[in-house]
Amino acid sequence: MKITRTTSSRIGEANLKNPTFGTQFSDHMLICKYRKGAWEQPEIKPFGPISVTPALHTLHYGQALFEGQKAYYMKDGRIGIFRPDMNAKRLNHSARRMFMPEFPEEWFLEGLKELVNLDRQWIPQNEGHALYLRPFMFGSSEFVAARPSEEYTMCIITSPVGPYYAGEVKVKVEETYTRSAAGGVGSTKCAGNYGGAFFATDQARKEGYTQVIWTDHKNHELVEESGTMNVAFVIDDTLITPPLSDRILAGITRDSILTLVRDTGILKVEERPIKVQEVVEAAREGRLQETFGMGTAAVVSQICTIGFRGEDFEIPVPSDGYAMKIKQELGAIRSGIKEDPYNWMAIID
Ligand code: COI
Repeated sequence: MKITRTTSSRIGEANLKNPTFGTQFSDHMLICKYRKGAWEQPEIKPFGPISVTPALHTLHYGQALFEGQKAYYMKDGRIGIFRPDMNAKRLNHSARRMFMPEFPEEWFLEGLKELVNLDRQWIPQNEGHALYLRPFMFGSSEFVAARPSEEYTMCIITSPVGPYYAGEVKVKVEETYTRSAAGGVGSTKCAGNYGGAFFATDQARKEGYTQVIWTDHKNHELVEESGTMNVAFVIDDTLITPPLSDRILAGITRDSILTLVRDTGILKVEERPIKVQEVVEAAREGRLQETFGMGTAAVVSQICTIGFRGEDFEIPVPSDGYAMKIKQELGAIRSGIKEDPYNWMAIID
């Protein structure tokens, strides 16, 4: 991997104490081009603009996807990236479905480690803060015929971040718009899944909510995800979350939480279809103990209100409840306070 270091670091201007999510970028980035059917040598170089043609394929047809993961300073001063192997696999899952070339896993992992090592000063050290790593790939051919791009660009940029949601998270059950459909691209992190969600999310914001709860495309009866997070409900001391499908993103935080909860026995776990009606009934009967979102950016975010057909259901958000306990357990592994029996942390030497 070719590495060109910056000669003018911007670290002096960085706000690492109170960073706004995804608005500051560290000194270096990785870039790698796919041409003539093969990936060329990846290069790490100073972060900066990439010039593109107006006929850039992805601007017209949206063959674009991304990943998100985090690097942390651990308690003993080591640096670890949380489960990057899972991101590598999910990136290639997205690539296959979007008819894009898979990126070699070992380059992905090596590139992340090199970048984080080079920009280690950019990792914020406050509780709940991290260096967010944003790998992304896009079709970079110059033509507007509606066929797959022939050239692709893989990039990794990194950004110091704090908590994604500040304050209360209120969600509205969305019954008009749909995030994904069976046979579609809902299980991928293609750019369009996010762009396509902005309109419905904005409608919900105008009604006073933070995010939507997506429901199934056919009948809007089943809960799917909440905004950019997987969602879990605690009803009668059981954690219930929708099962993975081609409509739902296989969240790595979701997988980690389910593993932890099952292994520690904090709660019973049910991965099964759950109807909005079941959630609403449980809320009415006082059996909906907690609701939370799970995601790389959001980590574990407690949901305090669910809006459904004009009615708001207030959900308890205890500071010593299940969601916070799960968040603590996960945090303890990430920070190295607790042993990492799953080898989730990829340590940077
Ligand atoms: C993530 O948690 O990695 C996400 O995909 C959220 C992102 C859209 C900010």
